Amino acid sequence: MLIDGKKISADLKAEIAETVKEMTALGKKRPHLAAILVGHDGGSETYVANKVKACEACGFESTLIRFEDNVTEEELLATIDKLNNDKDVDGFIVQLPLPRHISEQRVIEAIDYRKDVDGFHPINVGRMSIGLPCYVSATPFGIMELLRRYNIDTKGKRCVVLGRSNIVGKPVATLMMQKAAPGNATVTVCHSATPDIKEICREADIIIAALGQPGFVTADMVKPGAAIIDVGTTRVPDASRKSGFRLCGDVDFENVEPLCSFITPVPGGVGPMTIASLMHNTLLAASGEIYPKND
Ligand code: GUN
Repeated sequence: MLIDGKKISADLKAEIAETVKEMTALGKKRPHLAAILVGHDGGSETYVANKVKACEACGFESTLIRFEDNVTEEELLATIDKLNNDKDVDGFIVQLPLPRHISEQRVIEAIDYRKDVDGFHPINVGRMSIGLPCYVSATPFGIMELLRRYNIDTKGKRCVVLGRSNIVGKPVATLMMQKAAPGNATVTVCHSATPDIKEICREADIIIAALGQPGFVTADMVKPGAAIIDVGTTRVPDASRKSGFRLCGDVDFENVEPLCSFITPVPGGVGPMTIASLMHNTLLAASGEIYPKND
């Protein structure tokens, strides 16, 4: 069965918009998300434009702050400080990657964790890993939401996560092993130093592929009936497209799809969920549900 991330993300955004309507009817202010975008990376431009569009769809206010590639780390940190102290802004993100002369880690740690709707700050990551309320980063949250809404059984299942990035592999492995639903799985994380990846994948009831290698998961790696979550979004040159590229997942979709119980397509699977998840976190930030507002 195809997992329709586009539909689930539209449902999630519609639910958020409904909650915002109720909030404003009670005289509360709209949630406000700010985004900092540095430079003109094609992927980042698209992501941030889509985040601003999603804010409109959800009834949020949004602010986009742009810098050129030559912005200094000090300027960026000063802007973060302003947003940390801006009472009107509920949450904000700094779109990654950043130019090489800027320390991403310093930038992430400069963000007030109570406004860190990307869930990248070590306080949010740490709270997530011990099961405390926090902002869960967008892609792992989106994946868990797809598993939840498609009633995919994870309890006691074998889950193989391919990739160990801070943004996807590590947090999704943490969530899948958490004693929660979805979750409660037996998780194996594979990466570039793992021998026997094929054999390990063949044992999996759920494969979450997040390595950024188009077509890596082939049919001979998939147990019949497994559920496959494809997080890959590699841009592959394609002259027949107006954009000049197409998005390729980490799974050989054509040959894997007939074997499995569930599969996310690329595009239209996990991708659309990430932005809806950011909207979800922004709503949580505005409501003070996770970190109560003290004013
Ligand atoms: N770059 C790729 N994914 C993300 C994300 O979820 N948030 C931010 N800020 N940058 C990203």
